[in-house]
Amino acid sequence: MATVKDTTGTPKAPRKATAKAAAGNDAPVMNGVPMETATKDGEGVRRRDFIHIATVSFAGVGAAAVAVPLVSQMSASADVLALASIEVDVAAIQPGQSIKTSWRKQPVFIRNLTPEEIAEANKVAAGGLRDPQTLAERTQPGKENWLITLGVCTHLGCVPLGAAAGEVKGEYGGYFCPCHGSHYDTAGRIRKGPAPTNLVVPEFAFISDTIVKIG
Ligand code: FES
Repeated sequence: MATVKDTTGTPKAPRKATAKAAAGNDAPVMNGVPMETATKDGEGVRRRDFIHIATVSFAGVGAAAVAVPLVSQMSASADVLALASIEVDVAAIQPGQSIKTSWRKQPVFIRNLTPEEIAEANKVAAGGLRDPQTLAERTQPGKENWLITLGVCTHLGCVPLGAAAGEVKGEYGGYFCPCHGSHYDTAGRIRKGPAPTNLVVPEFAFISDTIVKIG
């Protein structure tokens, strides 16, 4: 039978006494401590204690595992901040058309209002609205036809319909949130339903005739 020899010829140091040997029996060892080690009151470490120790150790590992995704999320936030603004070329959006884009991971509607939609918005007495605002206050001077809002219903955050071709625009010709029935007008103002405020207008500015910077 093959054997393994110590080829160094160095005499082996005597092994340190193990915890198990120190216990003087074949008791199982936990973290170097014999589980049956006697305590002052004469009782050994019981199985219940072992379970408690094991549970605490597991919880420690769990905390470390949770910390990793938390750190990942924090670095994801930095990525989001890096996208603080976007630039959109609106040259191809015809009057009466809208597009959906995305800014800071939220949908944004960019709408080129027709003269009729502008007139519809301006004939409303803003003071009587739930969230009083004029179209002029929600658009840029000289660019009143460009309505730019977040595509997020101010009730509970659904994405309203009305930006894509063929979608329902609601009773006031703007946007309609089917989740609970909020109707927004052609200025994106809440006119009916549970939403408390108008669609949010993000900070934006035209940096050329057709390029708008959002954020
Ligand atoms: S989330 Fe839009 S109406 Fe409730």
